[in-house]
Amino acid sequence: MSSSAVAPQERAAELRRLVEHHSHRYYVLDDPEVSDAEFDRLFDELVELERQHPALATADSPTQRIGAPPTESFPKVPHLAPMGSLEKVTDEAGLLKWAADVRKRLGTEEPVSYVTEPKIDGSAISLLYDEGVFVRGATRGDGTRGEDVTPNLRTIKAIPLRMRLSDGEEAPRLLEVRGEVYLPLSAFNRLNERLVAVGKKNAPNPRNAAAGSLRQKDSRITASRELSIWVHGLGHVDGVELESHAEAIEWLREHGFRANPFTERHDSVESVARVCREWEKRRVELDYEIDGIVIKVDSLEQQRRLGALHGRPRWARAYKWAPMTAQTKLLRINIRVGRTGNLNPWAQLEPVEVGGVTVSTATLHNEEDINRKDIRKGDTVIVQRAGDVIPQVVGPVLPHSKGSRRFRMPANCPLCDTEIVKPEGEAMHRCPNRACPSRGLETLIHWVMAAMDIEGVGEQFVRRFWNEGLLRSMPDLYRLTSEQLMEHEGFGEISARKAIESIERSKEQPFMRVLFGLNIPQVGWVTAQNLARHFGTVERLMDASQEDIQAVEGIGPDRAEAIAEWFSDEENRGLVDELAALGLTFEAGEAERPPEGPLTGKTYVLTGTLERWTREEAAAALEAKGAKVGNSVSGKTAGVVVGEEPGLKLQKAERVGVPLLTEKEFEALVRG
Ligand code: IVH
Repeated sequence: MSSSAVAPQERAAELRRLVEHHSHRYYVLDDPEVSDAEFDRLFDELVELERQHPALATADSPTQRIGAPPTESFPKVPHLAPMGSLEKVTDEAGLLKWAADVRKRLGTEEPVSYVTEPKIDGSAISLLYDEGVFVRGATRGDGTRGEDVTPNLRTIKAIPLRMRLSDGEEAPRLLEVRGEVYLPLSAFNRLNERLVAVGKKNAPNPRNAAAGSLRQKDSRITASRELSIWVHGLGHVDGVELESHAEAIEWLREHGFRANPFTERHDSVESVARVCREWEKRRVELDYEIDGIVIKVDSLEQQRRLGALHGRPRWARAYKWAPMTAQTKLLRINIRVGRTGNLNPWAQLEPVEVGGVTVSTATLHNEEDINRKDIRKGDTVIVQRAGDVIPQVVGPVLPHSKGSRRFRMPANCPLCDTEIVKPEGEAMHRCPNRACPSRGLETLIHWVMAAMDIEGVGEQFVRRFWNEGLLRSMPDLYRLTSEQLMEHEGFGEISARKAIESIERSKEQPFMRVLFGLNIPQVGWVTAQNLARHFGTVERLMDASQEDIQAVEGIGPDRAEAIAEWFSDEENRGLVDELAALGLTFEAGEAERPPEGPLTGKTYVLTGTLERWTREEAAAALEAKGAKVGNSVSGKTAGVVVGEEPGLKLQKAERVGVPLLTEKEFEALVRG
C-alpha cells in the first residue's frame, strides 16, 4: 500500500474513510473487521500525513477527537427541541393503567404498537449535527438549556464526528440526536480502582462516574474514561421524514449511530410487560447498568397527538427497578478457611437492598485485592451485583471511617491457631495445618457435594453431623447407619434409609471422582481425570515418582511434586486404604475412557469462571464431544475458553496465538 503515487488529499480522504469505517465496526457495531495493529497502522499513517499537510486535518477527521485546549467552564447552550423526562411506573399494574390511558386518548379502536428499550443509567445528552457534521453536544441541563461539553463528547469513539451517508444522500440540515452516555461496569470498576490508588474520591455508581467524566475540564481525562453511548431518539429534525420510533432507531443505525440491540417492537402491552419482567432478571448479564425499561408508543403521529404534560411525554413511560449498586456499611471483614486451607476473606455488611435482593455478605477475594481497593472495616462501601449472583464490594466511598486501618490477614488460623503462610507468588494466604478442623469439614462437604454428588446428603447434613461429632472423615460417612440417623430430629425410617442408600450408591462413582474428592492439593476435576486415565489404578498412582506423574498430560513439576508428596504421606495412604476397604472405586473404568466425537484429538484449556457452567460441567461437556481438557496452554492447544477473571493461561494463549473462546462460543462448540 504505497502512498507515493497518490496525491496527499486523496490518500488522506481514503484513510479517513477507512479509519471511520473500522472505527464504526469496532465502537458502534462491536464487530471489528481488522486487527488492532492494522487499525493503528492506518490511523498512524493519517496522523503522519496530516502532520506533513496541516490543511488536511479538518475538524471532522478521526484524528481530531482529542486535543481541544482545556476549558474553564461549560457555556450554557439552548436545545432546539426541549429535552423532557420520563414519568415512571414501578409495576405491571402501573404499566397497564398507562396503556389503558393511551388507548382512551387515541380512541379504543385504534391499534397501538410499542417499542421497548433498556433504560440506560448514564448521563443524558443531545448531539447536534449540522449538514451531517457533529458541531455541538450538550448535557440535559434544565431541559431547555444544557452545558456545552462538545470537546469531551468528541473523545467518545462511538459518537460519529460525521454521519454516515449513502452515495448521493444529502445530510439533514440540522439534526439533534438524543442518547445516554454511560460507563461500562468493567470500566467503572477499573476507574474506581485507579482513583482510590491515588487517594482520590471515587464515584459511588456508574451514572455519577459518567456524568463526572463528561464534565472534565481537560478532555484528555474524559478520553481516558472509556465512555460509550446508546442513542435512543431524535430531538429537532430538519430534512428527514420518519413515521415511527422503530424506524427512527433504524435510521440512526444506518447513519452510524450506536442504538441498543435490545430495542424491540411490540403489538400488545402484554408483550411489553413480559420484556419488563424478563429484563429485571437478565440485566445482570449486561456490562452497563440499566435501571428499567423505557416504553414508547411507536407511531410518531400518535406521539404527536398524545403530547406531553410538564415536559413528560404521555407517549412514554419508564418502568423502573431498584438499582444494581448500593452503598452500605462494611461491619467486619471475616475469614473462612476453605477445604484447601485457603483463607477466604468476606465482608459482613449492614443489610442493604441491591437490585431487589437483600445483601448482607459479599466476597472479598484476598488481602492484596482488599488493599488495592483500599477497603477498610467501618467504611461505607459500594456493593454491586453483576454477572453472577455473588455480590462484590467494588470499593470504599472515601473518606475512610475515622481511625480506620488497612486490612491485614490474621497471623494465625482463626480455627486452629496454626501460623498462616503465604506461598511466594500466590495471592492466597493458607493455613498449612492439614488437620485444621475447617479443612476437614470443607473436604467432607466437597466430597458429598462436588465429587460424589450424593443425593439428599448436602452441606447441611455434613455440618450437622460434624457438629454432633459423628462425622470427621470420609470413611465415617460410610459407617453411618440408618439407626444412628433416626435418633436425630427430622429423620424417619424412610428418610434415614434413603440417605444411607444414596451414600452406599456413591461407592459406584468412578475413580476420577474419588480422586477429585480426596482433596489432593492442585488436583481439580481435569487433573483427577487425567491421573485416573494415565495410571488406571490407585496402586500405580501411589507408587509413581514425581517424574512419572509429570508425564501426565498437563501436569507440570510443581503440581507433580504436590501430588507425589500427598501420596507419600502415611496418613493419606491410610485414608486411601480405608476407603478402598469400604468399597469405593479405585480403578479406572468406562467413565475414564474418552468418548469419540467431533472434537477427538483436540485439547482445550479452561481459564477463569464461566457464568453458566461450573468448571466440571464445562470439562465434561467438552469431553463428551471427544475433546481433551488440558491444564496448560501450548502451541498444540486447540482453544482456550476464557471466563471472568482469567488467569495466566490467557496471557500465555495470547502469546502463543491460541484461539480464545468466549462462553457463547464455547457453548456453540459443545452444542453444535
Ligand atoms: S427517551 C422525553 N429512552 O432517562 C424524554 N430516555 O427521565 C425521552 N434514558 O433523562 C427520553 N435510557 O436520558 C429515553 N432508552 C431511553 C433511555 C432514556 C435512559 C434517560 C434519559 C432521560 C431519563 C428519563
